[in-house]
Amino acid sequence: MQKRPLGSTGLSVTPICEGTSPLGNFPAQYGYEVGETQAVDTILRILEGPLNFIDTSNNYFDAERRIGIALGKRGGLPQDFVLATKVDPEPGSTDLSGARARASVEESLNRLGLDHLQLVFIHDPELHDFDAATGPGGVVEAMVAMQQEGLIDHIGVAGGPIDLMLRYVDLGVFQAVISHNRYTLVDQSARPLIDATENRDMAFINGAPYGGGMLVKGPDQHPNYCYSPASEATKDRVRRMQDACRQFGLPLAAAALQFSLRESAIASTIVGMSTPKRLDQTLALADTQIPAELWSALDELARVGRSGIEEYSSQTL
Ligand SMILES: NC(=O)c1ccc[n+]([C@@H]2O[C@H](COP(=O)([O-])OP(=O)(O)OC[C@H]3O[C@@H](n4cnc5c(N)ncnc54)[C@H](OP(=O)(O)O)[C@@H]3O)[C@@H](O)[C@H]2O)c1
Repeated sequence: MQKRPLGSTGLSVTPICEGTSPLGNFPAQYGYEVGETQAVDTILRILEGPLNFIDTSNNYFDAERRIGIALGKRGGLPQDFVLATKVDPEPGSTDLSGARARASVEESLNRLGLDHLQLVFIHDPELHDFDAATGPGGVVEAMVAMQQEGLIDHIGVAGGPIDLMLRYVDLGVFQAVISHNRYTLVDQSARPLIDATENRDMAFINGAPYGGGMLVKGPDQHPNYCYSPASEATKDRVRRMQDACRQFGLPLAAAALQFSLRESAIASTIVGMSTPKRLDQTLALADTQIPAELWSALDELARVGRSGIEEYSSQTL
């Protein structure tokens, strides 16, 4: 796979990144259990395959520990591999102070069996007060300090609401952002964030190209978008996308994945995969030829969602 530069970090990553939130075992969000053996086998398959990028987090349940087991079996990260994680509060707490961010990094290092981290994000900043996060003793100060100390090579912010993400980008201290569910066939509200990161030579990483499952499993099997029930209007729109793809004998998932891959300002697209077979399936979806006529039909349907995330769910996300 042709790698892309990760902003100004000097790192290069494959356009597809393994997302590990499903393999941490998160049945409340994904609707199924993932056992340790399956998760470790998935990571081993990723480490020996053509991708060079894994995204995880301190709070993806058991994901970091399971990745650590796979790294131990394999003897560490392959050369030129990039492993990103995120700082989080302790389970059951909302504290993401600077002190907690340091503790979170220590936990990640221990679970992963590493002595320093290449790329660490502040996770879900929408769950925390911006002034506290950016003030003295806050998480941003701690992240910058850990980078200066050499514990972390590069820092970023990973979250949802675009206006808030733009505020973090404007701080000028981060090298990367992860946005999720907001640059897909259903929603393209991340466009201003993509433009802002491009202007600053920051990496834009796009998580959840299937909206957490709907655009690969279909709205009848997976009626949630962005981890909440989708509106009937959105499910109908996705069914029309499925019909358009069917006319060309193609799976909607190929278009959903390539919708993100074809955007050159996106350094990498994070796909949640929790079984080893998903890797080959994902590579095949990325390689599927999509005719221009189908793109025209899909782009027309996709545009409906540009006004924002409220269109597909009644819940605040
Ligand atoms: N705030 C943040 O930082 C943030 C938020 C959201 C996401 N992310 C990152 O982005 C990643 C991707 O998001 P996501 O996992 O929620 O959503 P996603 O990638 O849109 O969808 C993942 C779902 O699609 C399924 N899937 C993947 N490939 C498939 C295939 N070929 N056939 C059938 N089903 C397939 C997975 O099932 P299986 O489990 O069965 O493989 C999983 O249920 C996360 O894992 C995480 O790393 C970060």
